[in-house]
Amino acid sequence: MTTSSHALDRVLVLEMVRVTEAAAVAASKLIGRGNEKAADHAAVEAMREALNQLEFDGTVVIGEGERDEAPMLFIGEKVGAAQGTGPKIDIALDPLEGTTITAKAGPNALAVLAIAEEGGLLNAPDVYMEKLAVGPGYPKGVIDLRKSATENVHAIAAAKGVHPSEIIACVLDRPRHAALIAELRGLGCGIMLIPDGDVAGVIAVTDPDTTIDVYMGQGGAPEGVLAAAALRCVGGQFQGRLVFRNDDERARAAHWHVEDLDRIYHLEDLAKGDVIFAATGVTDGSLLDGVKRRKSCITTESVVMRASTGTVRWVRGEHRHEPGSHDY
Ligand code: FBP
Repeated sequence: MTTSSHALDRVLVLEMVRVTEAAAVAASKLIGRGNEKAADHAAVEAMREALNQLEFDGTVVIGEGERDEAPMLFIGEKVGAAQGTGPKIDIALDPLEGTTITAKAGPNALAVLAIAEEGGLLNAPDVYMEKLAVGPGYPKGVIDLRKSATENVHAIAAAKGVHPSEIIACVLDRPRHAALIAELRGLGCGIMLIPDGDVAGVIAVTDPDTTIDVYMGQGGAPEGVLAAAALRCVGGQFQGRLVFRNDDERARAAHWHVEDLDRIYHLEDLAKGDVIFAATGVTDGSLLDGVKRRKSCITTESVVMRASTGTVRWVRGEHRHEPGSHDY
């Protein structure tokens, strides 16, 4: 490591919020406009511009895709205004997590960013990841991805001191989860089915107000790294296993130096060392309120957290100018 944790947190913690705010506000113009691509593009451009104002030597490790498929914020892209001179930072980002949500004005779209010292974030391939997460306060090892959903629910219920039917699970509403949903229904569990947005879904297990006990099911692997970065800061347990559905995806595994295709990744495997996670709500959700374009200002709600201290800061912004404009 060439960068001290001190450099990572003191210089960058609050700067991260400017970056996610810029992306969220840009995307907010497209809320409910039925155009996923335009919303994503607006967020990507704004996030890239904001990142390029920061005094660091950043590398995107989780981004919009591989270089040949993403014109901006591609994996490997260098960002930051201090290339070669500033602290070396690895960045996982999703300028708009929930493109369809945004297009349909649904809940839980976020602009998300996580940074770590060089080498701190897993370069996850763009495949699915089987995810299992619980919030803080459970004995270590209460969840185990090698066990069935039933066994995990029983273990969580026993640790919580409730009947399995009282456990609430959050699951992405997808046909691929039919068997999982049937198994949970068989136990009498409550299931919060979300249309999209499993970064917010995973983080929801850390907030008792959501009443969600466990997150289960397959979502994007890059989103898994982002959610893991957040859980590193606030506590909780997470396990992930990459899902390779065909030869093409298995070939991508080799490209990403994933040797053990069945490996179970724990929090520290996904986001290690001193990690900062920041998110700004685009639409209202369980974690954050969305961007509101009011008569005299634009309001935003963001959260920024840091792994090495566990500090969580909630930031409410009132913007008299569009973030990214010259006066901002
Ligand atoms: P996008 O913002 O890229 O549309 O991702 C939304 C999302 O719901 C993620 O939160 C989740 O990890 C992934 O898509 C699930 O993928 P799929 O829609 O293929 O089931």
